[in-house]
Amino acid sequence: MIILGIESSAHTIGAGIIEGRKILSNKRKMYPISNKGIIPSKVAEFHSKHISSLIRDALAESKINIEDIDAVAYTKGPGIGACLRIGQIAAKTISRQFGKPIFPVNHSVAHIEIARVMFNMHDPLVLYVSGGNSQILGIINKPFRHYHVYGETLDIGIGNALDNFARSANLLPAWGSSVAKVAEGGKYIAMPYNVKGMDFTFTGILKYATDLLAKEKLPDIAYSFQETMFSMLCEATERALFLLGKKELILCGGVAQNKRLNEMLQSIADSHGVKFRAASDQFNADNGAMIAVVGLEMLENNDHYALSEATIDQKFRADKFEIKWQL
Ligand code: FE2
Repeated sequence: MIILGIESSAHTIGAGIIEGRKILSNKRKMYPISNKGIIPSKVAEFHSKHISSLIRDALAESKINIEDIDAVAYTKGPGIGACLRIGQIAAKTISRQFGKPIFPVNHSVAHIEIARVMFNMHDPLVLYVSGGNSQILGIINKPFRHYHVYGETLDIGIGNALDNFARSANLLPAWGSSVAKVAEGGKYIAMPYNVKGMDFTFTGILKYATDLLAKEKLPDIAYSFQETMFSMLCEATERALFLLGKKELILCGGVAQNKRLNEMLQSIADSHGVKFRAASDQFNADNGAMIAVVGLEMLENNDHYALSEATIDQKFRADKFEIKWQL
């Protein structure tokens, strides 16, 4: 089975093609980030300008024609409405014009599933960290099979906190990778630490770190900001691992590209005899192949949708998406 996956939930527009579990192509373009942040109408304009050529490039690299695909999958949500709409329209157009089944996919579950399939895991605990989301999830079967959210940020996503800090510190590009770079060699300063059970908050530490910019050295603040927030995530994840008795741990989402966070989770996993994996960067950044992976799972399990059901949902949480396939 050959699936085309289209991703357009935020700053990245992507088109990926898979055949079975093999990734044939994974093309993407990212809206250039400035210190103004993301303006939804501008990003949607960028996506609509590039989507056709990205799909053409993905098909060319895969050496197939559009008629050869068995289905098209797209991101239903969560994400920015104007951006989601571009991927949805492209997928519906292909579905209608070429008579292909269409699959609306949950973006968060796609981040998890591409790693789970890649590393052949069956019952992982998941730490999903991105701009808009920071959640600890695991599969439960009642009232329907889904990724249950055991813990999450009670305010903003960790990626959002890192981007926000980077903008205040005039770091370009204004996101987490710039903070990680400037944090190298920094010294630790104590910062607010907020974990409640398996939930956490980031706005308090963000305000504290931003206010410190006028008083302390940037590398020390960046290092301490990152280290403290990652420790909060690790404490909550370790608690969940222990309470749920899971033996597999996946780190996914855009912030999963951070090497320090990987190191910290690896050491927790090692001390509990847990298998820990994070996919390579191209699959943690937003991409079309991860959407195609879930589309294939839906197709193989006859989880079909009419064109009229191919909607978007800006607040489509992972725990609202039924997993009809076996893990
Ligand atoms: Fe994402």
